[in-house]
Amino acid sequence: MSRSGKVKLRLGVLVSGRGSNLQAILDAIAEGTLSAEVAVVVSDRPDAPALSRIDDAAPKIPGVVVERGAYPTGEAFDDAIADVLDEHGVELVVLAGFMRVLGAGFVRRFQGRVVNIHPSLLPSFPGLHAQRQALLHGVKVSGCTVHLVDETLDGGPILAQTAVPVLPGDTEESLSERILKEEHALLPKTIQEMIEARFNN
Ligand code: GRF
Repeated sequence: MSRSGKVKLRLGVLVSGRGSNLQAILDAIAEGTLSAEVAVVVSDRPDAPALSRIDDAAPKIPGVVVERGAYPTGEAFDDAIADVLDEHGVELVVLAGFMRVLGAGFVRRFQGRVVNIHPSLLPSFPGLHAQRQALLHGVKVSGCTVHLVDETLDGGPILAQTAVPVLPGDTEESLSERILKEEHALLPKTIQEMIEARFNN
């Protein structure tokens, strides 16, 4: 894809909850360190606090709720999300705290154009409660990973990682907070690097 330096890549951000990584993307765009625009935010949960973060965004970013329960199969749910992303001209899909695994059909449809942020140094501790898993295993270093999404849980080629120390006396909460701070830096930075490397030539 050939793009001029001034064209902003259209992001589709998928969320399920708090949306602090979505906020980090919005902040980086506002600061000019991320040459992208959020074309649409899709949530599988109508009550996701992430949705209220876009209420104040100017120009207003559309927020679309696609609930799993409204579709008979996982494939139909995935297709509904993919249709919303296509309708909004999304070029890169960002999973930012999206708590569902997308199927092979979705991954094929957006081949190489879906990234995820995960709060561990993958391939260690995929899945839920990555920080709790890290503490239970007694690792001394954990961190966060941004990776391309394939049809496996938290699989796919690793794009970037930041290591975070696990300190004596850490709780799941304190470790999560230390990792989250790094997530907020790593995700927008990696998206910008992708734009420069893959889309901006
Ligand atoms: C983050 O820790 C992210 O790595 C994980 O889910 C959490 C989402 O947080 N996938 P938020 O919704 O972005 O605040």
